[in-house]
Amino acid sequence: SALFDSVLRPVITRAAGSQRIKQTSQRLPVTERVVDRFVAGESESDALAAIADALGSGLSVTIDHLGEDTTDETQASATVAAYLSLLQGMSQFEAPPGALEVSLKLTALGQCLPRHGRKIAEENTHTICGAAAAAGVLVTVDAEDHGTVDERLDIVRTLRGEYPELGTVLQAYLRRTEDDCQEFAASGARIRLCKGAYSEPASVAYPERSLIDEAYLRCLRILMKGTGYPMVASHDPTMIEAAELMAIEFGREPHSWEHQMLYGIRADEQQRLATAGHAVRVYIPYGQEWYGYFVRRLAEKPANLGFFLRALVSG
Ligand code: FDA
Repeated sequence: SALFDSVLRPVITRAAGSQRIKQTSQRLPVTERVVDRFVAGESESDALAAIADALGSGLSVTIDHLGEDTTDETQASATVAAYLSLLQGMSQFEAPPGALEVSLKLTALGQCLPRHGRKIAEENTHTICGAAAAAGVLVTVDAEDHGTVDERLDIVRTLRGEYPELGTVLQAYLRRTEDDCQEFAASGARIRLCKGAYSEPASVAYPERSLIDEAYLRCLRILMKGTGYPMVASHDPTMIEAAELMAIEFGREPHSWEHQMLYGIRADEQQRLATAGHAVRVYIPYGQEWYGYFVRRLAEKPANLGFFLRALVSG
């Protein structure tokens, strides 16, 4: 696992940006079958079916229309259209308050466009926030690589003026994140705390798992102690248990924070927590642009890579 962390993980994660590997993988049917474990499907109706399943099992949902790093304004507009259509579909569900959410990536909405990227991403997010509010659906902005954080948090701060329930993600592996947690714990925000899934230099991120885990616990404590709504996005039993204990320590009501996990990962644990009366949300990605997301899931766990390679060889 040390070899995996130091050598293979950075290679795999960087491969997420490689167009050639991406195109090849998207043509491989066998890859798609492995992908099915982590992605609800390619179409909106696949996403809606997955929502119905999750709600039926007592889980809340957050839906991600896959895509990132757009350098084309038309593509960014197509992403907005996909979210508007999805929101329309989601508004048909009878769900408990707060159970429906969409997650979005600013780089899919234009943040990296060479001209006016920030402005376009902000306008596109504003459009989605308006439609989501009308549909009774929450919105959370995902965290991407460290170079995008300042601009993202700035956009979120601005839009929260109009939509205070707009949430965002903080990544515990970044050295800056404790400070960000201080800011967002005080202002009553919805913050999804995760460990972090991108390949980052040691200058900005903790390089070792043990350091990342310690940072996660420090960040979690800040959020749990604060007045916001912490969203504990982790499959790690240590983090899950720590969250439960901190909630008791800080006298939090059961529905003043929640657990979150990814579609297809530890589904039994998601169900166990929900049955025990905890708020649990599952992050459900769908769409054709699954490559970057899929590669990050492979990089998180050596066994996933073995599973993928075996499927390639035997398929
Ligand atoms: P850790 O990696 O230590 O895993 C703990 C255990 O969980 C493993 O031992 C295994 O059992 C299981 N597990 C974890 N990953 C698995 C996998 N891929 N396949 C199979 N089993 C696995 N990151 C980011 O940079 N920006 C973001 O916006 C988000 N958003 C986000 C939303 C939600 C709801 C979640 C749960 C996660 C994210 N992430 C993310 C990903 C996050 O940063 C992190 O990479 C993964 O959650 C894995 O870290 P864990 O905390 O689960 O612990």
